[in-house]
Amino acid sequence: MEYICTYMQGKNIHPIFEQTLQRADKEKLLNQTAKVIWFTGLSGSGKSTIAIALEKALFEKGFITQLLDGDNIRAGINNNLGFSEADREENIRRIAEVAKLFVQAGIICFCSFVSPTKAIRQTARNIIGENDFIEIYVNTPLAICEQRDVKGLYKKARAGEIKDFTGIHQPFEVPENPDMEVKTENRKVEEIIKEMLHFLLPKIQYIHE
Ligand code: ADX
Repeated sequence: MEYICTYMQGKNIHPIFEQTLQRADKEKLLNQTAKVIWFTGLSGSGKSTIAIALEKALFEKGFITQLLDGDNIRAGINNNLGFSEADREENIRRIAEVAKLFVQAGIICFCSFVSPTKAIRQTARNIIGENDFIEIYVNTPLAICEQRDVKGLYKKARAGEIKDFTGIHQPFEVPENPDMEVKTENRKVEEIIKEMLHFLLPKIQYIHE
């Protein structure tokens, strides 16, 4: 904190900390523990489908959440970014900063992004903080994503109409130690959600002092 203040003052920026309402006050009001639930996986692996269904299931149980999703974010705040390594890094850096703001407001934030490299996911983890970051690897084999091809992007990537496509021209580095791995092949969304609720509920329930 001291370091941040000295550094920022050098830039004539003076963040306010003491006067503001604290995260703990907001979590108490919302009766939940805020976390970032970070979904990583190939395009078409089912990240967003799962995140949407999970968000609904949690809402029904009284939790307040916010979903940040690759295509939506890239249509708005990150509409100046492409898919080079540097742009993907910047994409994830901004998203992680936004997710952190939601957590500070006591809100559970779902992030659904390919986030293809270990370095990129580490950036997100560093910004958000180890304690608040839950990594979910949506593990769907490339062949299945390509077969589903919901957005028709794999077809375009194979035809050379899209460059730098993850899984085709660019690598997807499999997470080594995700907090949870979800396989989607031949599985119903409801079954996956049940399993995820079992894992997540103890982590997001409000802890009374
Ligand atoms: S990330 O790599 O920077 O994390 P992000 O999740 O924001 O990616 O965006 C991925 C989505 O953008 C994909 O689901 C797909 O719909 C679309 N897309 C368009 N071009 C590409 C590409 N070259 N590689 C991956 N996804 C792409």
